[in-house]
Parts: sequence; C-alpha cells; structure tokens
Amino acid sequence: MTYIIAIDGPSGSGKSTISQKLAEILKIEYLNTGSMYRAVSKYFLDNNIKENSTENEISIALNKIKIDFINNEIYLNGENIESLIRTDLVTKNTSWVSANKIIRENLVAKQRQIASTKSFVVDGRDIGTVVFPNAKYKFYLTASTKERAKRRFLQKESNLSIEEIEEALIKRDLYDSSRAISPLKKADDALEIDNSKQSIEQTLQTIISYMDKEDVL
Ligand code: DC
Repeated sequence: MTYIIAIDGPSGSGKSTISQKLAEILKIEYLNTGSMYRAVSKYFLDNNIKENSTENEISIALNKIKIDFINNEIYLNGENIESLIRTDLVTKNTSWVSANKIIRENLVAKQRQIASTKSFVVDGRDIGTVVFPNAKYKFYLTASTKERAKRRFLQKESNLSIEEIEEALIKRDLYDSSRAISPLKKADDALEIDNSKQSIEQTLQTIISYMDKEDVL
C-alpha cells in the first residue's frame, strides 16, 4: 500500500531538509511543492507575467510550463533551475504567485498527479489541509523566527543580513497565513513539532516514532 506523509510549516522550519532525509530513510519519493511555486514565479518573472496580468494571460502562461523532478532537482521546460529559484527576487515574487487561485489549482492538480502512484513525503504549506487531506501521516514543523532566520542565513542563498531575513520571514509568515486561498495552517489532525532546539536527527526520530512499524521497515 502506498501512503503520503504531509509535512507543512513556515519557511525555515526545516521542512525540505527533514522531508528529503525522511524519504531517503524510508526509501520513498520526495516532492518539494515550494519549488513548484518558485519555478512558476521564475517563469513569470522571465516572461513578464505580473500580479496584475489578466486571468487569461496567467492561464496561457501556465499551459506553457512543464515541471519535472529528476533526482529531487526541479526542471522547468527541460532546464535544471534548482540553483536559480531561491534568489531574493524569486522568493519575493513567489508570494503573489502562491496566493493566486488559478496558479494554485494548476499546481495542486500536478502535485496530486505526481504523488498518485507511489509513497511520497510531500512538503509545503497546504499539504495536510488541501492537497492530501487524507494523508496517512501529517506533521506541522515550526521553529522560532530567530532560529529560522539563522538557518536561512547559513544557507547563504540570500544577500540579506540575519535581521533583514528575520524581518522578511515574519512578513512572509503573516502573508502566507492570512491569504484567502489555502493559507498556511496546521491541519487539525497534524502533529506539531517545534524543532527550534532539536537537531535534524532528533526531528527525524520524532517523526519516525509516530509511524506504523510496517511503513518504517
Ligand atoms: O517552502 P518554500 O519557502 O520553498 O516556498 C516558497 C513559497 O511558496 C512560499 O511563499 C510559500 C509558497 N508555498 C505555498 O504557498 N504552498 C505550498 N504548498 C508550498 C509553498
């Protein structure tokens, strides 16, 4: 039997690192949905699609986008864009992109299709609430904003200072959790793990300890 592990939480809560390692340990697949919103954001920046573009323009552009994952790296229309989607510009532009209804519907359909035939760890903001409400396992990762800013800073993908990153995180959290469509929210049946003071291994062990033995072998 295939199953889904939904991992949601704000940025810098360790979702991607934990999800990727968890999938490796369990020998199942990993889907990073944040990368998909970032890929669309990058394509829109490159093709002059903006927040005030018409629904028609957005739909036409979406139909020109093909997203694939190969070895956990994201490809946009055949080009590996993994190293191009975490710049400050793409990150900032992803806010409106991920709040747009047409774009979300398009990407949620893709996510359901990708994870339809195998067991998957899927990370994002709305995985346990909207994309896979019937996921067998649901976890909601959090950490203090100071700790999350520090982690982002150490990734060295931003040109901002720690203080600026923390400020941007707080803004983005507020935007993500207060948007009308699929806001960042813990599913009622998800287990919340605050990993501010936990190592990656400790968080992984906590997650695995909640799983059925048959899925961990
Ligand atoms: O996890 P991340 O930082 O790579 O996500 C990038 C952006 O995409 C962030 O603004 C939240 C948004 N996102 C979303 O709205 N829904 C998801 N399932 C995943 C990410």
